[in-house]
Amino acid sequence: MSELLIRGRVLTFVNEPQGIDDTASYRYFEDGAVFVRGGKVVETGNYADVSKLAGAAVEVADHRPNLILPGLIDTHLHFPQTQAIASYGAQLLEWLNTYIFVEEQKFARPAHAAAVADRFMDELLSNGTTTAVAYCSVHPESVDAYFSAAEARGMRMIGGKVMMDRNAPDALRDTPQQGYDETKRLIEKWHGRGRAHYAISPRFAITSTPEQMEMSQALVAEHPECYVQTHLSENRDEIAFATSLYPDAKDYTDIYARYGLLNDRMLLGHCIYLSDREISVLAESGAVGVFCPTSNLFLGSGLFDRDRFDRLGARWSVATDVGGGTSFSMLETMDEAYKVLHLQGQRLTPFASFYRMTLGNARALGLHDHIGSLHAGADADIVVLDSGAKSAMEYRMRTATSLAEELFILQTMGDDRCVAEVYVAGKAMKARKAGAAEKRQLETA
Ligand code: GUN
Ligand code: ZN
Repeated sequence: MSELLIRGRVLTFVNEPQGIDDTASYRYFEDGAVFVRGGKVVETGNYADVSKLAGAAVEVADHRPNLILPGLIDTHLHFPQTQAIASYGAQLLEWLNTYIFVEEQKFARPAHAAAVADRFMDELLSNGTTTAVAYCSVHPESVDAYFSAAEARGMRMIGGKVMMDRNAPDALRDTPQQGYDETKRLIEKWHGRGRAHYAISPRFAITSTPEQMEMSQALVAEHPECYVQTHLSENRDEIAFATSLYPDAKDYTDIYARYGLLNDRMLLGHCIYLSDREISVLAESGAVGVFCPTSNLFLGSGLFDRDRFDRLGARWSVATDVGGGTSFSMLETMDEAYKVLHLQGQRLTPFASFYRMTLGNARALGLHDHIGSLHAGADADIVVLDSGAKSAMEYRMRTATSLAEELFILQTMGDDRCVAEVYVAGKAMKARKAGAAEKRQLETA
């Protein structure tokens, strides 16, 4: 079995940091190493100790002085929106109608879906993201493209076909029965195949009739092993429209609650304008509110109130929400998260940020045994970060005196240029991609 010793400054969390001085929440090894065998972490610790476990012939990837962390996790984005990112000037409903529902129609063509899926996975990896939860388009072929591209790279990915049977162009609408049948087939085909997990995905209350909600309810009841994802309370016009379509519901959250969709495998994008009652309902069910800061600013949606989620005991995670979100980078996402919270008088410490991108998001997905930290037995999904990758960062880093300061610089100034390497199940993906590009050049020369 292949063995690899990855050497550098290793940082991995064991718990949620309770403050900037909470050194018990993480493990940090200044001259550290992660010993990998057969795609799994065997041991993480000081290089002097860990290197003893490896045979003399072990391959060593020496990344000093860079930081080695678990691969980053993105809990909400849209793979068919890869080329619709940065679409100008509209808030949610107009933006969906003007740009997104046009773009997503292209995914009826399997060749287009396959090409974008390849690019999407490579973009995630370039940004150090090794696991993500994505919406595909309404077309089942888009799900095949998505999971095929993930499988080719060995990535642990979550996703599903959106179900939408109203308030969208004809070409993007399924029917309740079709949404059910196609989802069922896709679950059978993909869920649990390699590292694939399926997410049952009614897009949001506006684009699903009560009949489709009932079908979603049946799918969730029949497949408790699957995730469920939708959007909730992102924009004031959206809330007014959604609640007008379900006049019997107490509020927006109650629409999903009535159809039995809320459980601890459910991810609800945005959750900006929730009442205390609604957040408490999420807390009781264990459902996760997904904070998407770049999207919430870009679409002029609003500010996620993290402290209220914490106070009411509800779970939350972070995500890019590409293409409402403006970057695939989780570093840039946490930069904006910091600012969104700061605007509301809430603090996000650098350790809390890096916890959230790794172990925090893994816990939100219930996948913390596999990803999000570098414990023995974890999948060897790893990112290597260079805090001096940009000249302005390198200059700023000269005055940094602590790990907390370095992490904050990485989050505030960093982007994909800081990702020196990314490993998927122990395989170096940047090196692999560079090798593939070189081969293509030789072939065409
Ligand atoms: N609500 C329903 N669909 C979408 C989407 O694609 N992006 C965002 N940001 N919100 C949504
Ligand atoms: Zn979304």
